[in-house]
Amino acid sequence: MPYLKVEHVFKRFERRGQWTDALHDVNLELEQGTFVSLIGPSGCGKSTLLRIIGGLSDADEGQVLVGGQTPMQAQSDKQFGFVPQAPALFPWRTVLENMNLPFEVNKKAGAVHVKDREDPVELLKSVGLGDFVNAYAKELSGGMQQRVGIARAFGSGAPILLMDEPFSALDEITREMLSYQLLDIWEAHKKTVVFVTHSLREAVLLSDKVVVMSARPGKISQVIDIDLPRPRSAAVEDTEEFHHYVSLIRGQLRERWE
Ligand SMILES: Nc1ncnc2c1ncn2[C@@H]1O[C@H](COP(=O)(O)OP(=O)(O)OP(=O)(O)O)[C@@H](O)[C@H]1O
Ligand SMILES: [Mg+2]
Repeated sequence: MPYLKVEHVFKRFERRGQWTDALHDVNLELEQGTFVSLIGPSGCGKSTLLRIIGGLSDADEGQVLVGGQTPMQAQSDKQFGFVPQAPALFPWRTVLENMNLPFEVNKKAGAVHVKDREDPVELLKSVGLGDFVNAYAKELSGGMQQRVGIARAFGSGAPILLMDEPFSALDEITREMLSYQLLDIWEAHKKTVVFVTHSLREAVLLSDKVVVMSARPGKISQVIDIDLPRPRSAAVEDTEEFHHYVSLIRGQLRERWE
């Protein structure tokens, strides 16, 4: 049985008497340890799907199972690590104290994954923040804060990480560098990741599968397997296969616009 199963999920929203089909019959199956990207035009339901998978919103119809549990059960069992668009750190706490936050919260909730804990300092080093362990979060740049968020998610003991455009507020070069760090940390941990992005290059570089969505109604139009060898590094971007995947997905997205 797949680790993540999304079956016939529908979601509608009402605004001033107008109904929007945010998700229309969405189906998806993922094995554990898969990195999947969701890509598609603005408003096609990527964040909505991520929220439903993570138990932050209910589907109107259909069902989602995460490791055999409903999203609500999985959430209370601390199965999810979230990395939102803007870093969710406490500015007046140090980087290390922010890394420890999920464990303080989980201890109170009596969650079981604390035993899977990894060394937070090592994780910070792996995203280039070894010198900032004791800095206050408010002393870090946006990109550095986002790296703490990513390291924290990988160290939280949660088996599935949900990332909603975590790099969207960053400049292009920082974004590129962070995508390589995410690649490395993922290769080292092989957690299940659902990653929302508008970047074709990030989707191909990072993913085992790219889910292309179309808008109105929000649907999955294609799932593309990225058969590039692992472990991957920046050099993969210069290969013909990489460019082939990028143009394949670009073509898919253009078709959805027309
Ligand atoms: N809480 C809400 N109330 C009403 N409508 C909503 C709500 N959340 C989302 N929607 C609508 O559902 C649709 C999908 O929204 P969603 O945020 O999932 O899109 P998205 O693919 O994440 O877009 P973007 O790339 O711009 O982040 C949109 O038409 C949006 O207006
Ligand atoms: Mg969104």
